[in-house]
Parts: sequence; structure tokens; C-alpha cells
Amino acid sequence: MCRSNQWFACKSNISPDDFFFAGLAKPGLTNNTFGATVTLATVQQIKGVNTLGVSMARVDYAPGGINPPHTHPRATEIVFVLEGELVVGFITTENKLFSKTIKKGEIFTFPRGLIHFQINNGKVPAAALAAFNSQLPGTQRVANALFASSPPVDDVVLSKSFQIGTQEVETIKSKFAPKK
Ligand code: GLV
Ligand code: MN
Repeated sequence: MCRSNQWFACKSNISPDDFFFAGLAKPGLTNNTFGATVTLATVQQIKGVNTLGVSMARVDYAPGGINPPHTHPRATEIVFVLEGELVVGFITTENKLFSKTIKKGEIFTFPRGLIHFQINNGKVPAAALAAFNSQLPGTQRVANALFASSPPVDDVVLSKSFQIGTQEVETIKSKFAPKK
């Protein structure tokens, strides 16, 4: 039944706890720059999903909180609103925006690999549960990837790509620099 892979070897002694995770039971703290936090429940938290192709996440949003534009290279995602209301959207490879306001009990789908986001424009906190068709979807935040990589992407690359001055590039980079 078990296929090991290079990251997660099969265990010989498995127990119910290998399939259990309580980490999504409570809201995550939202007192950060984005006013939102993603709590993952992937194969890194639940060893039992190894080779099964599924995982989940919980996202909590303060009023005004955003889960900023990002992609999951290995998974399609479906979000279910637990509380509140979210404006969600993804952008196709033709650069068309597919966006909607979804409320408690409603779902929305983000196709694999496409850039997507959620924002809580409401006055009360919001929460969502996300399901992924990969045990390890991977997350790449667009702004962090381009403006906070290590080593950094050259200012000229960013300046030419975004048609802005290198000073503006530096300003954006400084906002994403790890706080000292
Ligand atoms: C998590 O990655 C989400 O978009 O809900
Ligand atoms: Mn996502």
C-alpha cells in the first residue's frame, strides 16, 4: 500500500496519530503585515497522507486581511468559507481575472499553478478551509519570489520587467526584507 519517496520514507509501525492533526482547530494569529495567516496540514504535518495526493490548509483573515497573490505549482485548490466573506480571484494564462465574492458555506476553485488571492474586505474576521489535490502543494508568493529571493533578483531585471526605476525596485525590496 505504501510507496516511499525521496522525502518521506514508509513507516513500518503506523498508528492512528500518523493520520491525525489538530492544528487547524484554532484560528491562526492575524497580527502580521498581511492581516492573514495560512496554517498548513500537508504531508509535513500529517505523515499518513504520504502518496495519497491530498492536503488542507486553514486561512484566517483580519478585517482587510489578504492572502497575497501566490501559486501552488503542484495542486488545484478549493476553498470553503468557514466564517465571513472573501473576495477571491485567479488570473488565467490569458491574463483574464476570474473573481467573485464568496460567503460562509460557499466554495471557489483555483486551478493548479494559476496566480490567485483572497482578501477580506469585510468589517469582521473571516476564515476559510482549503483543500488541495497534492500532499505537498507548494506555495510561491509572487511578490516574495521576485522581491525577496536569496540571492536577490538583479534590480535591472525587475526595473525592466515592471517598467519602473531601480529606486522604486529598491523601495519594494526594502518592504519585503526580513525585519532586523
Ligand atoms: C492557501 O494557500 C490558500 O490560498 O487558501
Ligand atoms: Mn492558495
